[in-house]
Amino acid sequence: MRIILLGAPGSGKGTQVKILTDHFKIRGISLGDILRQEVKRNSPLGGKVKEYMQEGLLVPDEIVSLVIEENINNEGFILDGYPRNVSQAEKLESILNNKNLSFDKAIYLDVSENMLITRLSGRRVCKVCNANYHVKNMPSKREGICNICGGELIQRNDDKPEVIKKRWVVFQKENASLMDYYRQRDKLVIVDANKEAEEVFQAIVKNFNYGKHSCL
Ligand code: AP5
Repeated sequence: MRIILLGAPGSGKGTQVKILTDHFKIRGISLGDILRQEVKRNSPLGGKVKEYMQEGLLVPDEIVSLVIEENINNEGFILDGYPRNVSQAEKLESILNNKNLSFDKAIYLDVSENMLITRLSGRRVCKVCNANYHVKNMPSKREGICNICGGELIQRNDDKPEVIKKRWVVFQKENASLMDYYRQRDKLVIVDANKEAEEVFQAIVKNFNYGKHSCL
């Protein structure tokens, strides 16, 4: 199974990657998480990407494509956050070709602008293990505390209203041509992602012949 997850900031890519990887026991490659980890570690890569991320801009293609190349091997994967434009899609195609690999589908999680603002402004993440919550939709059992590791829940720097707006503009600029790219190759599947996480998960797996599944 090799799937690419596309969608606006807040469309639920990270949430679905977690559900899909737990369920199918395959690897999730979340570029945003990898980059945030590098920033946290103060690594040379982290130093290069920090400002772009804080401002809600895309990190230059040549930096992120190296990260993707390193992370793809012949195992199955669910790729979240890459590609974000046609040039990255072409690069991904050449990385996969060089490794004699292909992918099944590019799943686009379709959400309204209002929905993504609500989701991003209410998102909280664990400072320690990175688990993802929402103050209303997916609250932790104890306010501000991670269910999994007891770590503190915080708001991501790029979930502040002015940065959310910038990320939305960046996304819209690139998205139509990226969708066309996969539509022309007969790889694009559009899923209504305004619904609850379980329903979105069901709508994704319906596209693959893996039988009936539940994320609960
Ligand atoms: P990244 O971390 O990938 O951010 P993003 O694409 O903007 O997506 P998000 O993580 O914000 O949202 P999501 O779709 O994963 O939603 P989530 O599941 O968390 O990238 C960050 C930055 O890294 C970029 O801005 C850029 O600088 C850089 N970068 C990354 N990739 C790059 C690339 N390819 N090229 C260049 N630069 C790159 O859900 C959001 C909230 O909603 C959560 O609180 C969740 O609990 C809740 N929620 C989710 N689904 C549902 C549901 N169905 N119902 C109710 N609530 C839900």
